[in-house]
Amino acid sequence: MSNLSYTFDSFDDQLKSREIERLTSNVDSHSKVMTEIFLNNGLHEAKKVLDVGCGTGAMIDMFAKLMPNTTFVGLDNSHHILAKAEENVLPNTSFTRGEAALLPFEDNSFDFVYTRLVLMHNHIPERIIREMKRVCKPGGMIICVEVDDETMIFHPYSSEFSDLMRANVAYAAQNGCDRIIGRKLFSLYKAANIQQVKVITQTSDYEGPYNDIPFPLQLAIGSDQAMHLVEAGLITEAQRIDILQKIKLFCSDPNRFYSGSFMYSIGKKE
Ligand SMILES: C[S@@+](CC[C@H](N)C(=O)[O-])C[C@H]1O[C@@H](n2cnc3c(N)ncnc32)[C@H](O)[C@@H]1O
Repeated sequence: MSNLSYTFDSFDDQLKSREIERLTSNVDSHSKVMTEIFLNNGLHEAKKVLDVGCGTGAMIDMFAKLMPNTTFVGLDNSHHILAKAEENVLPNTSFTRGEAALLPFEDNSFDFVYTRLVLMHNHIPERIIREMKRVCKPGGMIICVEVDDETMIFHPYSSEFSDLMRANVAYAAQNGCDRIIGRKLFSLYKAANIQQVKVITQTSDYEGPYNDIPFPLQLAIGSDQAMHLVEAGLITEAQRIDILQKIKLFCSDPNRFYSGSFMYSIGKKE
């Protein structure tokens, strides 16, 4: 397995069910935008589609219901997450276990190949993109959706949020996860000789109940109030205390706003 930072099979049972819930609701909340971008960029003409790192199968389920005459194949390297995906098999969907960097399909097998939140967890994303291109038919489309955490904006702004996000990006990188891969997608596509490349940056604006810590900040402070970032030498103890105070203030502001980006790289195999 080439992914280093996301090993679903090693999560304990509680974490597994939390992650399944999170992934499903994350797909739900972006479904409208995602469907629009995918349909407008080749999905509506596709007869055979591959989802690389399909996770719970939430995206496949959504697209397969919209396009009952198209065949959807989901691939993932995690047994456990595939078991969840297989609870929802439709007549036009199937799931298979396999490695994204070594896809178990023949050249030119699919009209449309996509992946979402997978490249960020793999230390050589180039390999996955090369494989996606190999199994895509000439004329077919390839879409990768990833995040870029340094595009997060917060209002009211505190410089401590930028310190936290930067520290989290560095911490994730030490653990094999690239949280600023979004900005690299264009170059990765160009290097793979994918044609007609464009990148759509799609912002997600969040509201959420007052006093709830926004998910990106929650993710960055983790379950130990950001102690791991101090231990890793990425912030000082004084910064950690400032960060936690500013988060508290931010959460209690009824007019607070924050936004982050998903980046969609889109291109054609010619
Ligand atoms: C963050 S989840 C995203 C799932 C899904 N694409 C979504 O957007 O909901 C990442 C998924 O990719 C899978 N994955 C990561 N690296 C992989 C690899 N090298 N080969 C196959 N699957 C991989 C993980 O097991 C996990 O299910």
